Amino acid sequence: MKPYIVAIFNQKGGISKTTTSTNLAVCLAAYGKSVVVMDLDSQGDSTKSLGVDPNVKRGIYDLFIGAAELEEVMLPTIFEGVSILPSTYSLAGIEIKLSELKDSQRTLTHIISHAALDCDYVIVDCPPALGILPINALASAHAVIIPVTATPYANDGLMRTLPSIKYVQEGLNKRLLLQGVLFTIHDRHKTARKISELIRARLGGTVYAAEIPRDTMVIEAASARLPVCVYAPRSPAAQAHLDFTGEFLDRHQKIAAKSGEVVSPPLKREEAVARLTVWQGEFATATDRPTGDRLRQKKNQLDRLLYGDRTKMERLHLGVIHFFIEHRMSLVVFLLMILAAVVTLVGVGVESVRMLAGSMGLS
Ligand SMILES: Nc1ncnc2c1ncn2[C@@H]1O[C@H](COP(=O)(O)OP(=O)(O)OP(=O)(O)O)[C@@H](O)[C@H]1O
Ligand SMILES: [Mg+2]
Repeated sequence: MKPYIVAIFNQKGGISKTTTSTNLAVCLAAYGKSVVVMDLDSQGDSTKSLGVDPNVKRGIYDLFIGAAELEEVMLPTIFEGVSILPSTYSLAGIEIKLSELKDSQRTLTHIISHAALDCDYVIVDCPPALGILPINALASAHAVIIPVTATPYANDGLMRTLPSIKYVQEGLNKRLLLQGVLFTIHDRHKTARKISELIRARLGGTVYAAEIPRDTMVIEAASARLPVCVYAPRSPAAQAHLDFTGEFLDRHQKIAAKSGEVVSPPLKREEAVARLTVWQGEFATATDRPTGDRLRQKKNQLDRLLYGDRTKMERLHLGVIHFFIEHRMSLVVFLLMILAAVVTLVGVGVESVRMLAGSMGLS
């Protein structure tokens, strides 16, 4: 069963698929395992979060179209034990390219079966929605993990995702196992608790006991382009990710035991935390945090994107909107300022006329 391939999948967007993938990867490495992260999202978030620039020459796209071998695409990351098959921006056009190929839903399965992937785990970060890439991921994986956020729409996301998994299990990949459902960006308020209780009651033991809490450290870590488990290993979210990784490893060990496979035991939790802390010391300060210069650079890039091929009127229009955003000013405040300026000008004008009339002896 080596490597054990796990797809992180939910058709819903923004529910922590990438955060789960990258943190699971670094935690597994911290527990002494070797991991390859496969970034199937053209946004390249997991690529960036593991310190790799998505402007690399070759990525998953080249692998899928047969323009590069897996070994040529694979890159080491700054974290020992974690490698990445990076996403490049060209991945956005893969749907059209793959639709020209025969058996396009199994492209990844063929690639993996013909390559020597020498690692313990492959974590596949899927894009939202059920396109050709997630189908490929599910078709080639041993297991799938569904991250879920307990909001009133969580159930809809699950209800759309579970049938897609069943569809793959019935046709493309009969061995695919739903390893578990993980609560992410978890709030402690009553509604979230009610929703999570409902889902737990319905799915029973499939749901992991660990819940990843909403934690601003995750967002800080993302802007430092690091997984939170490295950025702040003792934060509540990082600790929860470690708990989840422990459960994930336990479940895998049990699954492997059923098929007579022996999986070497992971390091102890304290050792994993110690390793993450070393990485924190090495990388959390050295990372390129968004300095004033970088923010300005980003703003200029955005300006070019916004204004590049616009007409004069469109530029003017966008310029006004931009002005309001940049100065964090609302239209009401702006109009009040104009009104105050007009009143002042009129006042000054009237006063001048009165003074002029006075000096001419007209009043
Ligand atoms: N535990 C958490 N606490 C607070 N914010 C979080 C947490 N987990 C993720 N986030 C934030 O939520 C946003 C979405 O997370 P992420 O990118 O991992 O989701 P995704 O499911 O991969 O999104 P997409 O569907 O666009 O690929 C990000 O800004 C991330 O930093
Ligand atoms: Mg993502």
